[in-house]
Amino acid sequence: MLSIHSIILASIFIPIISCQTIYELLDSFRFLNEGTISSSDIYEYQYEFSAYTEPENVTREKFAWVEESVRPYLYQTDPTEPLQCNSYPLLSGTDLPGADFLSIIPSSADASHCVTLCCTYMSCVAWSYASLAPADFNGCKKQQPCCYLKAYIPASSHNPNIISAIMNRTYPYNHPPTGLRSAVPLGGITTGSIELRGDGTFHEWTVENQSPAAAAKFGVVDDALLAIRLKNLETNENHTRLIRTHPNHYFKGIDTIKYHGSYPVSKLELIDSTLIANMDLYAYSTLKVGDLNRSMTPAIIFSLNIENPNDYSISVDFMFNVPLSVQIDQTRLSKNVIQQITSNTYAECLSFCDRNNLCVSWNWFITDNQNTCLLYSDIGNNVYLNGHVSGVRGQWTYNQTGPLVLNRPGKMAANGQYLLWPFLSSDQTMTATIDNDINNLLSNFSTNGGWFQQTEIQGSAAANGAVSISTKLQPGEKKTVSILFAWYFPHHYWLDLPLDNYYSLLFNNVTDVGQSIGIDKTDSQLKIIVKDILTLHNIYFNSSLPDYLVDSLINSVSHMRSAMYFSNGDWRQWEAYDCNDVDSVHNDHQRHIPYILYFPETEKIKMYTWAKYQQADGMIQETFSVGCMGDTAPYDQHGGRNMGDVTTIFILETLELYRWTNDFTFLKDMYPHVVAGIQWQLSVSTQLGLPEHLECTYDIPNMSQYPTTTFNSFMHLAALRACMELSYIMNDTVTYGKCSKSFIIAIKQINQLLWYNDSIDTGYFLAYTGGQGEKAIFTDALYGQVLAFTYGLGPLYNISIMKKHLESEVRLADTPYGLRMLTGREPLTNPQDNAIWMGASQDWSVLNLWFDMDFNSALIQSEKGLNNVRLTLNDQWNIHGLYAADGYGIGGKPWITSHYGFHMVLWHLPFAIAGQYTDLSRGILLFSPKLRSPFTLPALIPNTLGSISATPLLNGQSSYTFSLTVGSLSLNILAINNVKYPGSINLTAGQSVQWIG
Ligand SMILES: *[C@@H]1O[C@H](CO)[C@@H](O)[C@H](O)[C@H]1NC(C)=O
Repeated sequence: MLSIHSIILASIFIPIISCQTIYELLDSFRFLNEGTISSSDIYEYQYEFSAYTEPENVTREKFAWVEESVRPYLYQTDPTEPLQCNSYPLLSGTDLPGADFLSIIPSSADASHCVTLCCTYMSCVAWSYASLAPADFNGCKKQQPCCYLKAYIPASSHNPNIISAIMNRTYPYNHPPTGLRSAVPLGGITTGSIELRGDGTFHEWTVENQSPAAAAKFGVVDDALLAIRLKNLETNENHTRLIRTHPNHYFKGIDTIKYHGSYPVSKLELIDSTLIANMDLYAYSTLKVGDLNRSMTPAIIFSLNIENPNDYSISVDFMFNVPLSVQIDQTRLSKNVIQQITSNTYAECLSFCDRNNLCVSWNWFITDNQNTCLLYSDIGNNVYLNGHVSGVRGQWTYNQTGPLVLNRPGKMAANGQYLLWPFLSSDQTMTATIDNDINNLLSNFSTNGGWFQQTEIQGSAAANGAVSISTKLQPGEKKTVSILFAWYFPHHYWLDLPLDNYYSLLFNNVTDVGQSIGIDKTDSQLKIIVKDILTLHNIYFNSSLPDYLVDSLINSVSHMRSAMYFSNGDWRQWEAYDCNDVDSVHNDHQRHIPYILYFPETEKIKMYTWAKYQQADGMIQETFSVGCMGDTAPYDQHGGRNMGDVTTIFILETLELYRWTNDFTFLKDMYPHVVAGIQWQLSVSTQLGLPEHLECTYDIPNMSQYPTTTFNSFMHLAALRACMELSYIMNDTVTYGKCSKSFIIAIKQINQLLWYNDSIDTGYFLAYTGGQGEKAIFTDALYGQVLAFTYGLGPLYNISIMKKHLESEVRLADTPYGLRMLTGREPLTNPQDNAIWMGASQDWSVLNLWFDMDFNSALIQSEKGLNNVRLTLNDQWNIHGLYAADGYGIGGKPWITSHYGFHMVLWHLPFAIAGQYTDLSRGILLFSPKLRSPFTLPALIPNTLGSISATPLLNGQSSYTFSLTVGSLSLNILAINNVKYPGSINLTAGQSVQWIG
């Protein structure tokens, strides 16, 4: 097609938002999720069957944050529904074999205990009881009584030694609103984070370098709280409110909070007819695409937007309290006791430590009715232990206008600094205080709107530190008051190995952190932080992508919470907190697209490290540190299994990074590793011409037992195609020849060994060859094709055959929650195969888009899988790797591994929707969107983000626009729908080009 006309609209970017106030900027944040939490709501944990997930309260150091078999999950109790739980009749001489999720030894040999036990677990629908267990089983011991708790009701059988019963129970429990089970993690990239939940509570603290390699997170910090005081300046009437729906101290909370999250922003709308101001609370941190240093600011900003709707003036006081010197229900694992003292309160223990020069941490608890205070000469890692209170020696300082700082000098992980600092302008004043007694602190705030008598704090110890900011609003006026909460904990530890945080190279101390965002000046830096986030969000919000996908693209980036970056230049990340291996190639690849787009250098660091650990035989090792669900391995104790999706992905990612960043040095550095990798890949494919007996990311079904699998075979095809591209670029005809020949053989072998017609019209690729004669189908079998499309390799196989396979995935493996992993090998009551792994549904949609299925039909599976978590479970910031299918009692619920990245293959969708082809090494960027004009879609390149759009013209042509929002871009060829922009492209952020065709 010919473009007949073109206009270059260079430098027309008008910074329209620069004159907006911080109030307006915050108000322009957009959200696609909401949860309404009311003070009358009842929220309670229920205990459910799960294989393994991450607990809120972590009881072990240097160990995976994992709990097995059962987990608490928060529910909203409906008080209008009856609560009933009993089990009559008892069926003596009856067994209900199978369906066990827990087996517990009852307190005495009495079947009635099983009723009580069963009622404790929401997953329990039936039980069996043996007075003498025939064998050890789960928690039970041979020859002791045992209650076998059942997650579904199996067929009964006769057994004279067993009593069973089916429960009569009601479930007056609903999924809670969004913002309670999880919320946006706040904090800079690699600096640790904290979640402000929709009820105003703070959870999931990892800012003191907590990780599975060291101390436990703080699950809940109940006395971290925000509060406001509003005063009618005509009547002097005033009210103090905790920003909590369920206040934990003797002050009123807020009637209703509406929670919304768009990472890295949380918004809490405070809804309460008795409040005399309209208020929205925003909590956010820095996130600037292409600027990792800036994004590593260890801080959270709380901004309260206030509007005075009255015809009288009001004053507003806003405060934040943090109990930073005491950790409730946390103990310190230290043996170096220097003193053991009796102390009535933990506050006393804290002050004993403060007065003893040798004391650097302390622990207080009650044993045998004795209140014990232990002082330590070192800082042990904290772990959860109910009833224990502990802390690290620290001192607060403050002088009138500056920040309130908590100093914890020393070289351990919990040594560092915290800072509380309101952003001040001429019409705003601040105060600060410290206090062991939070009730005292709150009542002074309530009386005076701050702690005005406290003008200086010099090196004092106290449990709580708080700051306030005060201002006045005229009738109709709108204002923003903001408080910065920053931290500086440079000393990361991996077991006993010190590895300082990279951010310690960027800041000298916590005051430096505050100054880096201009807190001591005007709010101009605050505006820039908000604009940087808006710039990123708007790429998605201002597009034609469906809402569910926009929300998922924005919020899935919260996965970055677990990334680590050390001053030695190492970027590292767990597979998950509960599965503590580090950067397995296959798991990293599922999550890597936002990383490669926003901070591509982090992905290159990993590539160089995987290359460094490549084995002599050419195999890329699976992980930098091996482990899952157990002790954390020493730093970079690399290793792993023989995988079908590790060496292959390494090869594919080399091509991806080269084409997307045009970094020839990188390609030259990687190429020998690619050639060696191909060597290994072919060496494990000698018998079948397809990879043999290899494991893959879907490891639970143990697929390496089979000669070959479709999943690994398509990874093989994709890697061989990438090899052909790379060897062509490198002028390596020998390797090119090997890969192209092997590709042809592999296709032939897939035809022969793996394709199966189950009727005249239908068929699918078999999950694997061999087995017991079953013809199992595996969803996500064509993941290799997903990668091949996104990296511009095109179809690997006959398209109509691949489409047939995808049709069969739905026909044979669909569930209400997404596509079941493996169908045809096991009964549906077995959770091993019958679970929903979060990748398959996304990949199904990606492929069908590339195969030109109708847009909405293609997105059905993707939307269903994500909406189960977004809209049913309302748990978008803790997406699990696997959800349960129906058949074993917990359909649609989290099944395995928390805060996971498997669903992040959803990032292939914008590429498929825009039909984006990127090869910057040749200066080519092409789009063939799956949407008809008019549309606007994101254009996604590392460090370079923008959008394409089309508007139909009356003559049947379209007007196309390419706008660059982030970065700069030079191209030889830019085309949309084969309509080329006439000329080359040289754009910087804010510029755009337009053409017609
Ligand atoms: C974690 O511990 C806190 C404090 O002891 C407690 O309030 C909370 O309910 C616990 N969380 C779970 C999920 O049990």
